[in-house]
Amino acid sequence: MKKTLLAAVLAIGTTAAWSQQVNVICSVQAEWCNMLSTVYARTTGVKVNMSLRGSGEALAQLIAEKDNPKTDVWFGGTGDPHLQAAEQGLTLEYKSASLPQLHEWAQQQARQAGYKTVGIYSGPLGFGYNPELLAKKKLPVPKAWADLLKPGYKGDIQVANPASSGTAYTMIATLVQLMGEDKAFDYLKGLHKNVSQYTRSGTAPIKAVARGETAVSISFVHDGPQEKMAGFPLETITPAEGTGAEIGSMSIVKGARNLEAAKKFYEFCLTPGAQELAAAAKQFQLPSNKAAKVDANVPDFRKIKLINYDYAKYGASTERKRLIARWEKEVNSLPR
Ligand code: G6P
Repeated sequence: MKKTLLAAVLAIGTTAAWSQQVNVICSVQAEWCNMLSTVYARTTGVKVNMSLRGSGEALAQLIAEKDNPKTDVWFGGTGDPHLQAAEQGLTLEYKSASLPQLHEWAQQQARQAGYKTVGIYSGPLGFGYNPELLAKKKLPVPKAWADLLKPGYKGDIQVANPASSGTAYTMIATLVQLMGEDKAFDYLKGLHKNVSQYTRSGTAPIKAVARGETAVSISFVHDGPQEKMAGFPLETITPAEGTGAEIGSMSIVKGARNLEAAKKFYEFCLTPGAQELAAAAKQFQLPSNKAAKVDANVPDFRKIKLINYDYAKYGASTERKRLIARWEKEVNSLPR
């Protein structure tokens, strides 16, 4: 009883101490979201109300809240849906004084959205695989997109659903840019035969691979080291034909109720110190601030064959909606 009372008093004390609050949708992994909100709250006294959503789900929420926004800042997640939000007038034009401190790709992301979003990190798409499970099943390590169509992998590949996950949409856009649209959809239909499940979250497949539930995933390669550090048998590889990279982004919501707090939080997230919290939370994207330390676990982009991803085109709302609808109709509806 005493304990409960004390807890209640402490809770009230803490609540009363909050000078301001900011409502954030966070589309990176929970460890990073929690680290960011805890450090920010402790150092500024601003309460951070964080909710975790996949990139596609976050966009859907902003659309639903359009007339009465409850969110102030959308932090992280793949850049394409942030560009779509900008185009749909869901996010606010805001030009940070820190922009020149960011890598060109992050500034470019801001420019092409009319400053309604900004790049905060980047990371390449690839495969996760479980070497132990592959060996047990006598399957080779997949080295190319083409390998994933081989019948041996049937039921052993996981990837997320592009409607909820930015990771999976990045895959579709990457394949379309690599192969041309019709060939990419033929490829996706072939892949479908080998996919055991399309998960809601972009990171669920690599976690399933790490835990030996499936042998291969299509994932961001920077999500690999965290699993390996936790002791799981997990390796990553990028496909020989080439691959795409995301520009993880951040946007302020238009009509944000806590606009001043939103701007302060946004500015904080662009600082080198805040960006280094990612690696502290075992998240290994490349930070957008040039002065942020690059952890040794961050994938080396120079060693990866990257396509020249057309962010403006694949972040356009008609294109993103059309490709996801085509995938639903022509791929997801097929039997396996
Ligand atoms: C993970 C990755 C991020 C990525 C995000 C997308 O958190 O570490 O780099 O932006 O997934 O999540 P989603 O569920 O939308 O695919």
